[in-house]
Amino acid sequence: MINAPLTSLFPTLQQSLNGYPLCYLDTAATSQKPESVLQAMDHYYRSNNANVHRGAHQLSARATTAYEAVRHKIANFINAPRAEEIIYTSGTTHSLNLLAQGLSGMLANNDVILVDSAAHHANIVPWQELAKRTGAKVMPIGLTPQGRLDYTELTHLLVNHPVKLVAISHVSNVLGTVNDIAVLAALVHQHNALLAVDGAQAIAHLSVDVQALGCDFYAFSGHKMYGPTGVGVLWGHYAYLDKLQPLMTGGEMIETVSFSGSTYGALPNRLEAGTPPIAEVIGLGAAIDFIMALPATAKLQEQEVFNYLQQQLQSVPQITLYAAHPDNTGAVAFNLKGEHHQDVGILLDQQGIAIRCGHHCAQPLMNSLNITGCCRASVGIYTRRQDIDTFITALKGVIDLLS
Ligand code: ALA
Repeated sequence: MINAPLTSLFPTLQQSLNGYPLCYLDTAATSQKPESVLQAMDHYYRSNNANVHRGAHQLSARATTAYEAVRHKIANFINAPRAEEIIYTSGTTHSLNLLAQGLSGMLANNDVILVDSAAHHANIVPWQELAKRTGAKVMPIGLTPQGRLDYTELTHLLVNHPVKLVAISHVSNVLGTVNDIAVLAALVHQHNALLAVDGAQAIAHLSVDVQALGCDFYAFSGHKMYGPTGVGVLWGHYAYLDKLQPLMTGGEMIETVSFSGSTYGALPNRLEAGTPPIAEVIGLGAAIDFIMALPATAKLQEQEVFNYLQQQLQSVPQITLYAAHPDNTGAVAFNLKGEHHQDVGILLDQQGIAIRCGHHCAQPLMNSLNITGCCRASVGIYTRRQDIDTFITALKGVIDLLS
């Protein structure tokens, strides 16, 4: 169990920018990494560096053991029934592309794919490409006036169209709104469609149990959960993953190769061609150990800090908040009335405060909100109330400067 103050475990957070202590409120873009993750990757490179599954030598055996142990750790972490259902990818974008490519043979002309209109582009564009290949149609699921997924519209779409797949985010990367995956999975399955979930923003904030959620596929990235960039996961039911056409072919994914044709191996290797991100997988394993060792109160405290952030923003009259709600998690979107979001971000950065500004890879959502972009502040396990106070004081300074 970790006893130290959580912020002290993250080397990047121990610095000043322009003479101001770094106030990092951009965890939704990428989380900072604890010392233990950095050490695990360093140890692999210094002591065990070898390719996995290939060598007859001891280093390769050690690397393979460490690498495959993480697969079991991830399966346990998300309560996947089988470790072979954990497919390593480079991140959520890769996971969703792998899935969309893999489903090419399973969709036909005029089939419908429903997509959350608050989704990240990574959960929109791969489905548009799948639609181009198959003749299927992508249709958006609208939002309520409160900026939440409209379950009534989803029901209507499921009743009236030949829907084969529904793709939604577990947590919006912009608004921090949370979709009730268990309810959605039951609804989608009533209509014989599959449910694919982008879990990139949920995995670090919520407890994810894929069996309890009842979805068919779940994608996430290591770097949003205190692990390294370059590694992520696609989870799916074995029977569905086993039917996916591989996105990449080559070494390690085959059973036999000859010039008269090749056959492919079993899961998970069939979907993992080439040398995988070994150090990153090991770093992801260390990130899971870190999360599992957090005090039981850590996530509750994170949510309290997040709600404090929303309340503090709400109390500033010059701020427009988008879809803020105590049930949201991780991220809050806002604009300063009459000001460009980018100006706000630059002025905050001058005081050591890191937020994200722009369309956040969610242009359809920006269109629904009738804005070109916004500011987003996001928190992690290391964010303290004092960070929120620093941010709000600086934001009020920005308001004074611009008025
Ligand atoms: N998907 C990341 C974000 O929302 C990069 O910022």
